[in-house]
Amino acid sequence: MVNRSDVHYFGAGPAPLPTAVLERAAQVLLNYKDKGIGLCEISHRSPDANEILADAKHALSTLLDIPDDYEVLFLQSGGSGEFSATVYNLVAIWVEKKRAAIAGEVGDNQEEVLKRMHKAVDEELKLDYLVSGSWSLKASQEATRLVGAKHVNVALDARKSNGGKFGVIPPEDQWSLTPRASGGGPALVYYCDNETVDGVEFPAFPHALEGDDAPLVCCDMSSNFISRKVDVRKYAVIFGGAQKNIGNTGIAIVILRKSLLPPHSTPASPDLLRALNLPVGPIVLDYPTIAKNNSLYNTLPIFDVWVAGQVMSGLVNAYGAKRIGGQEEVSNDKARLIYDTLDKYSHVYRVVPDKAVRSRMNICFRVHGGDADKEKAFLAGAEKKGLLGLKGHRSVGGIRASNYNAVSMDGAKALVAYLEDYAKSS
Ligand SMILES: Cc1ncc(COP(=O)(O)O)c(C=O)c1O
Repeated sequence: MVNRSDVHYFGAGPAPLPTAVLERAAQVLLNYKDKGIGLCEISHRSPDANEILADAKHALSTLLDIPDDYEVLFLQSGGSGEFSATVYNLVAIWVEKKRAAIAGEVGDNQEEVLKRMHKAVDEELKLDYLVSGSWSLKASQEATRLVGAKHVNVALDARKSNGGKFGVIPPEDQWSLTPRASGGGPALVYYCDNETVDGVEFPAFPHALEGDDAPLVCCDMSSNFISRKVDVRKYAVIFGGAQKNIGNTGIAIVILRKSLLPPHSTPASPDLLRALNLPVGPIVLDYPTIAKNNSLYNTLPIFDVWVAGQVMSGLVNAYGAKRIGGQEEVSNDKARLIYDTLDKYSHVYRVVPDKAVRSRMNICFRVHGGDADKEKAFLAGAEKKGLLGLKGHRSVGGIRASNYNAVSMDGAKALVAYLEDYAKSS
């Protein structure tokens, strides 16, 4: 039998979880708080479930210093569901804002309002996407599927600057963002902070998205959530699936600016959206509905929220006043160790993305120029040493070491030792 302590797992998600959390999870699955029933069996509307939800929110808010004017939502959507949710919700807000402005000009003449709305949607509705890797590409494709290509402005396609492959983030002056017209501008600007497949991470929040008239920024942080400090106020929506840094598969977490919720913002009515040939989203992705119901509009997997809460409170306890800054230091140190070793043996290893945008979370590299047999042998040798989950994503191949929070410094060092041994014997 192989024990957990015998291996270090570098899978990209689902990803490792702290052993102590899993041990407690095994207990609460059987018997939660000595009630004789397990956590998957209790009602999501029970006081216990509410407490679990509140604790998870509190831990996340503490870690990331989430301001009071932001809401935390838990959904079953996965990361991909949020590709759609951001579109449904922010397009509905854009449309209602536009309708109110037009109604202010033309008064109660519904026919005229609708006529002008058609024109406004036709000519002005834009959703901006910064495509820096496979996941933001998928998000932009989902937006296109929902609202049509003419409304989706791919303001950046990083492949165009890198011979058709992801791996760079070109300078911001080369992006073609929709202009911020007064009272206009895009319905959202979307980007993925860390591209899990391609190993590309935004080093910092883009300058081009800052300013008093900043657009509504939606950001996918699925694979670098709670791994570094984030200035939440710069974002309209931050989301991520839990299954990398936060917990087990099953929930996504959304951090949402409250001014996008009623009574501050009202989404367009389903009737108006239909009249304009725009999509009406499913109720389970409707942010106002989820927020109004404290994430309990429908059955929330409370066990998954419990795991996420345990992981996050573990970090709160571990790093104290440093909060997520403490984890950031550790994540950076582990990543630096691994990248330094890859660079040291550059005749054997080649890091795929450009140095300026290397991900601290998903370290993508090739062995011997991507020689298939040699990479296979590299992986087999790693497995023998208990270093698992290193195979690159099937769409790009190569090697990927995911350096999530639950990968220990010992794990990073064990990988480094193997990289050294392999390079020296090559
Ligand atoms: C950055 C990123 N976004 C979105 C997703 C999709 O998440 P899900 O599988 O939960 O839909 C993934 C999955 O790996 C991801 O890495």
